[in-house]
Amino acid sequence: MDLFEYQARDLFEAHGVPVLAGIVAYTPEEAKAAAEKIGGVVVVKAQVKVGGRGKAGGVKVAKTPEEAFEHASNILGMDIKGHTVKRVMIAQGADINEEYYFSILLDRANRNYLAMCSKEGGMEIEQLAVERPEALARIAVDPATGIDEAKAREIAEAAGFPEELHANLVETFLKLWQVFKKEDATLVEVNPLIKTGSGGLLAIDGKVSLDENAGFRHPEHAEFEDKDAADPLEAKAKELDLNYVKLDGEVGIIGNGAGLVMSTLDVVAYAGEKHGNVKPANFLDIGGGASAEVMANGLDIILNDAQVKSVFVNVFGGITACDAVANGIVKALEILGGKATKPLVVRLDGNSVEEGRRILREANHPLVTLAVGMDEGADKAAELANA
Ligand SMILES: Nc1ncnc2c1ncn2[C@@H]1O[C@H](COP(=O)(O)OP(=O)(O)OP(=O)(O)O)[C@@H](O)[C@H]1O
Ligand SMILES: [Mg+2]
Repeated sequence: MDLFEYQARDLFEAHGVPVLAGIVAYTPEEAKAAAEKIGGVVVVKAQVKVGGRGKAGGVKVAKTPEEAFEHASNILGMDIKGHTVKRVMIAQGADINEEYYFSILLDRANRNYLAMCSKEGGMEIEQLAVERPEALARIAVDPATGIDEAKAREIAEAAGFPEELHANLVETFLKLWQVFKKEDATLVEVNPLIKTGSGGLLAIDGKVSLDENAGFRHPEHAEFEDKDAADPLEAKAKELDLNYVKLDGEVGIIGNGAGLVMSTLDVVAYAGEKHGNVKPANFLDIGGGASAEVMANGLDIILNDAQVKSVFVNVFGGITACDAVANGIVKALEILGGKATKPLVVRLDGNSVEEGRRILREANHPLVTLAVGMDEGADKAAELANA
């Protein structure tokens, strides 16, 4: 889960990383009130989960609360790389002397953590990384030891900082490591980390990604979730613990196992080319134990998608054999009753396939069509979606 800058700021503050005052605002009035509360020069900053806000005109200095109101009016509603700005942060103005870059991230390719640091931070960091990669120090961080004092010093030296800044940098790097480790992050980035006129360091812009696999250790992270952004069907699926991703097509898909569902999407998209270009409407993996309840929940989500015209259930019986899945489908249709209104193509294979098919044939539900092969099932589902 990626955080907004103001959320990253709050986490930094909680771990003692030096930050300035920052208040989130949803309206120009709130922005003005926040500017009054902070006092002095403030910066109005678009809160979107994408980089390059400054270059897109989403970061503006305001000398008065009225000016903060003006900037917030312009920035709220702005589109930055396809993200609509729904909130801004009013940040206390910083006295910037120099801008640095620092990040810690999960380096998947090397199965390690990586720290990156540069004395030339700021809005051109991407260009710097491409044109003069030597100006961006990259230091591997052993997960077992993390960033200790020696490692922090190594990073400061590798980035070529003058000796007099080392003590301060080391302290800040250690605190940012605490953010990374204690919050179970996969990315902590500060750009810019600034040196102020009086020589102190401040984290002026932060990007944090939290590892959702560690979410069980952090019930407090639930508050970071951006409920406005989530698709309502995806939100509901999440509540039901279903692996569901909404797509932009007409054929609802249910399968068991991520690999089978992915290939089902491909086969349906291919079959759709012959049937008015219909496409898969979603990804839904109901996993190994396809109980009637899980099947009913999955069908319910998919049938609630107004774009869906037909559903393709493609299940390979394994530990949960086809007869159990067939019973699940029959019971799910009972549970849904009148809510089940769209045709269902069911293709079963694997353990107890004959028994599974027999159960569905005997149930003889008017909405259900049986298919033997995957291609045949996909073709039928696409045809029904186009009917
Ligand atoms: N509180 C502040 N006080 C003074 N100047 C600021 C403040 N916040 C940002 N700036 C200036 O604006 C520039 C851009 O701000 P910021 O880094 O937050 O946005 P960005 O880099 O464009 O966004 P992103 O990191 O999402 O690409 C900074 O490099 C800094 O020079
Ligand atoms: Mg930045």
